[in-house]
Amino acid sequence: MDKIDELLDSVESLPPAPQVLVQLLSLLAKTETDLNRIVDLISFDPALTAKLLQTVNSGIFGRSSVVNDVPEAVNRLGFQAVYHIVAVACGERFIRPTDATGIDIGKMWRHAVTVAFASQFVSEPLGKDGGLAFTAGMLHDIGKVVMGEAFKLEYSKIINGEQLTGKVLLEQERIRFGMDHAEVGARLLERWKFSSNFVAAVRYHHDPLGAGNCAHFAAAIDLANALAHTFDDYGEGPAIFVVDSQAALQVLGIKSSDLLRYSDRIRENVDFVEAMCALRS
Ligand SMILES: [Fe+2]
Ligand SMILES: [Fe+2]
Repeated sequence: MDKIDELLDSVESLPPAPQVLVQLLSLLAKTETDLNRIVDLISFDPALTAKLLQTVNSGIFGRSSVVNDVPEAVNRLGFQAVYHIVAVACGERFIRPTDATGIDIGKMWRHAVTVAFASQFVSEPLGKDGGLAFTAGMLHDIGKVVMGEAFKLEYSKIINGEQLTGKVLLEQERIRFGMDHAEVGARLLERWKFSSNFVAAVRYHHDPLGAGNCAHFAAAIDLANALAHTFDDYGEGPAIFVVDSQAALQVLGIKSSDLLRYSDRIRENVDFVEAMCALRS
């Protein structure tokens, strides 16, 4: 057992594996997805269903009549919007650092949701599964939650301190703790039985060239992370955009001049991101 496994075993506040999310992603990965199975899977979790219906009926989607069950929600909003709500409702159970970590939960959560949407936009031209990219984007920094729980204020001093680009942050983490948030997060997701490409995208979200045949997926998360940092003031800071994204742009074949288009997509979804952030109970 190595250091990261020992760390994961030692953190008592880790939530149980998000089985609904893992199963939903594996259903989505199939070429012919049976919508009834997806609806059944969501309906099987009463807390998740309640949160879905609460969100659908909250006015965000401008509906006047009440939506009463999951099939009706899918029917009215389409599967993609329902998946976004379900993924975010699941994700907020996991991106929930305790006060002892000193991590600003609100900022971390807004960053996670923004990266989720940005990952989906960046992945679209690649023909990648949007749900997979959305979820990987949402969970990309989950290793920070684990390290925060394990190392408490010693860790939050690094991420709340002077703004660091992603690569420099990883170096600081390795120097002080002998591990970084990308590998810690990936190991947790591996334990939770997420697919290997999902795990690789999170593992290499600051180093897409290291991801081998998952380089495109990792680069999409890397670029989404950089784009999100131009909209939030969380953690790694806007400088990451200039300094860290070059490899991602190269892997994805995206020119710097195209980036404004992606920024506009994120800006168009700011209200929806805010609404999703309000899902936190
Ligand atoms: Fe990160
Ligand atoms: Fe991030």
